[in-house]
Amino acid sequence: MGVGFSDNIVDEIKSRCNIVDVIGRHVPLKKTGSNYKGVCPFHNEKTPSFVVSDTKQIFTCFGCGATGDVLEFVQRYNNLDFPEAVDKLAGEYGIEVKSTNFQGERERTVLYEINREAAAYFYRAFTKIPNPAYEYMKKRGILPDTLRKFGIGYADGEWDSLYEYFMKKGIDPQTLLELGLISYSNGKYYDKYRDRVIFPIINTRGKIIGFGGRILGDGNPKYLNSPESSVFLKKNNLYGLNLTRQDINKENQVILVEGYMDVISLYQHGVRNVSASLGTALTENQAAMMKRYTENVIISYDSDTAGQAAALRGLDILHKSGCKVKVLHINDGKDPDDFIKKNGKDEFLKLIQNAMTFADYKIHLLKQRLDLTTTEGSVEFLQETAKILRELSPVEADIYIKKIAHETKISEGAIRLEINGNNNTENTRNSNVPPHREAGQRQTYEGKRAGTASQLEKHFIKLMLFKSNYILKMKPYEWVFRSPSAYKIYELILSVYKDDEEIDLNKVEDSLEAEDNILFQDIIDNVKLSDDDEEYFHDCIKGIEEARLNKREKEIIRDLAVLNDDEDQDKIEALTIEFKELMELKEAIKKSRR
Ligand code: UTP
Ligand code: MN
Repeated sequence: MGVGFSDNIVDEIKSRCNIVDVIGRHVPLKKTGSNYKGVCPFHNEKTPSFVVSDTKQIFTCFGCGATGDVLEFVQRYNNLDFPEAVDKLAGEYGIEVKSTNFQGERERTVLYEINREAAAYFYRAFTKIPNPAYEYMKKRGILPDTLRKFGIGYADGEWDSLYEYFMKKGIDPQTLLELGLISYSNGKYYDKYRDRVIFPIINTRGKIIGFGGRILGDGNPKYLNSPESSVFLKKNNLYGLNLTRQDINKENQVILVEGYMDVISLYQHGVRNVSASLGTALTENQAAMMKRYTENVIISYDSDTAGQAAALRGLDILHKSGCKVKVLHINDGKDPDDFIKKNGKDEFLKLIQNAMTFADYKIHLLKQRLDLTTTEGSVEFLQETAKILRELSPVEADIYIKKIAHETKISEGAIRLEINGNNNTENTRNSNVPPHREAGQRQTYEGKRAGTASQLEKHFIKLMLFKSNYILKMKPYEWVFRSPSAYKIYELILSVYKDDEEIDLNKVEDSLEAEDNILFQDIIDNVKLSDDDEEYFHDCIKGIEEARLNKREKEIIRDLAVLNDDEDQDKIEALTIEFKELMELKEAIKKSRR
């Protein structure tokens, strides 16, 4: 926030505004012992678990976990940001608020005031019917009520009517320049906005911080926006939030769109939990702003490629900020405005219902970009998908694994392997997968083993420990034990194993060094074996095999591409034979899965 408050004022508010008093005005409280109890206003409950402490001056809900001091309560209860909450309480308790940056705040007050004057000027012009801006908006289907609500205005075609208006009021042109309302060239001042529909941009405190001006019809630039100034920091604001934040909070969901017209159009059609990032890339600050009202964000950007790219960037930023993001795909028209005009509110709500989750959307884009009929495409798809799924909870990931396996014919085992078996960077991992010819041979990996054990490694070890028939089955795949501790445990199991006898866990444990024992205990305590372990094991093994075959296939294709037809005949022949074998093996794995 631009305005800082001195600690003094915050301290004074906290000492003068008793939390029991402040909360008691909104939530009926009952004294119980030294505390007060009531029904939590932040979640649905019947029996009171909301406790306000007079001595500590904090509230805590034992139902939903909400907690904080008096300012936190006022922010959450009224959907205010920190400065707004300070303002509100200070106003109610007659405490004088002096900004720490008093000079700056006074200047800003002047700028806000000028913006307000300008907005009023544009608004008056717009309401003198007929005028081209009103005609234009009417043609686009925006009704008078909506126009009024958003304070839509008209900048006429004169060169300097706004400038002259402000000169008569004795405003310094320098200030108008700073606000981007006028420009200066060839020794003269000109109005910046001419022949445009004006969209005032209003912050959540109701201050006009800037303008967007749309050309009437076609032309460039389509929208002219206020420059950054001390009152207009683009990265800190979202269009429409001044009107829609209550709806966003109530619906516990925000539809994030790109443009002014999308906000206005959706709003008019009754989809009021909407806000726009105004064509710029979404910022962390904007994400944090939205999070004050809801965590659930539905990105509904234009269906063109620029819109999709912007959606993707926004998606990552929102995801990182801890929002639950979905992406809505417009299938009829360019943007939400187009769509809702054509199909109405209910159809738009259906689109919201069907919006793709974070993972769905990213996987969808991968499928579009990569050719899954080629090895290269499939391998990259698998690697990229694994990265996405690793970010999800195990339960969520599991759903996607099944879905992807079903849709792409990549086996569940291969996907799980890629997700679990890859804690290191891709390169070190690939270098640990032995080339085809050495499969099954004993490998040493001095210096190559690194990292902590993957889920897959742990699972295999648990299987060998408790179902010794897996011990010999594991041998050809021992290279999957990439973590040094896992490999040591594996070697120990082999050394204590006697035919047809279960492993003596104590023996293994006693022989392990302390650092490896941590992993051992973890496996004993936390890895769960289920009834279909046989199936899981084979699925993973097939996945491992497949990954290895795919890698070798890539290598062969690459080698063949650089070999010379005349000179390298023998090599080419050998590789071709190997390639055929490889394809047969792959086919066999595929068949075994059907
Ligand atoms: P769009 O071109 O998608 O605009 O740009 P729109 O909102 O659909 O506009 P209409 O329906 O043609 O009137 C999306 C947003 O990008 C910003 C604006 O904020 C716009 O709302 N933009 C676009 C600009 O700032 N300048 C431009 O020249 C174009
Ligand atoms: Mn549009």
